[in-house]
Amino acid sequence: MPADTRPSSHPDPYRDIDAQPDTDQFIASLEARGRTPSQRRLRQRFLRFIPIRSGQHVLEVGCGTGVVLRDIAALVGSRGRALGVDQSRSLVAAARRLTSRAAHRGRLAVRWAAGEQLPFRRPQFDVALAVTVILHVQDPLRVVKEMARVTRPGGHVAVQDQDFGTVAVAHPDRTLTDQIMGGVAARMYEEPYSGRRLPGLLRAVGLERVRLLTDVYQDTTLTPYTKTFLERRAERAVTWGIVEAAVAQRWLDGFTALVTAGGFVMTMNYYGAVGQKLPAED
Ligand SMILES: C[S@@+](CC[C@H](N)C(=O)[O-])C[C@H]1O[C@@H](n2cnc3c(N)ncnc32)[C@H](O)[C@@H]1O
Repeated sequence: MPADTRPSSHPDPYRDIDAQPDTDQFIASLEARGRTPSQRRLRQRFLRFIPIRSGQHVLEVGCGTGVVLRDIAALVGSRGRALGVDQSRSLVAAARRLTSRAAHRGRLAVRWAAGEQLPFRRPQFDVALAVTVILHVQDPLRVVKEMARVTRPGGHVAVQDQDFGTVAVAHPDRTLTDQIMGGVAARMYEEPYSGRRLPGLLRAVGLERVRLLTDVYQDTTLTPYTKTFLERRAERAVTWGIVEAAVAQRWLDGFTALVTAGGFVMTMNYYGAVGQKLPAED
């Protein structure tokens, strides 16, 4: 079966984007998230927290369409380099297309590679980072170990994930909201609470001076990104038999009514952890 039509066996589509029937939908969704002002702010705060500096050679694991990579390219300056890798061939193609129009395209490159087996023999990056990737991988420890292996002594390994245990969304029917949001997250991800576990993960691979930045995605207008996010949750709740289609539609209509009344609020915590690979002692 061709790679683009084979059914995905895992409920989390980001495990294998190339197996999804409509990869364009994911490309559009990653770009829409990237454009959302609250998302842009929390992404840029995390890059400053690491920090990404001028002249650095930075690796982004799971770069998707290159949203973060384009910001990294701006920060590393003309002497720096930003390399993105992703295990999805369709996202690598999209990232190449989208970054070819980017302001700092000369400092950017995108390659196909899996985070579990990075194609670099020696430690060579000043920073290796992964943004909203670790919650999607089967073996987070293995990926973070690989990131640490390819980072030069003294360099930083940084990971940021949302934490689905922290989603707070206003809705008249709280029980139904918990049923849909909790039920879908528990079924979709091996570790829906990935965010809060990131500092421990970095320490577990031997990184030192681990720091944590807790940030919040906040939406009071039902942005296109949040709207799609909630619609997908509703679709999956129906597919997985958590609620009937009519109930899912009633739930979505509840958000529309809240927006009209000026009462829509959704927040979700993002946890960004950074650790340092200390030089080996003689
Ligand atoms: C939610 S997207 C995040 C993309 C990008 N970092 C951003 O914030 O816009 C997750 C990405 O991780 C990639 N991914 C998932 N598992 C991976 C793995 N084991 N190795 C490399 N990439 C992986 C997916 O293909 C997808 O592009």
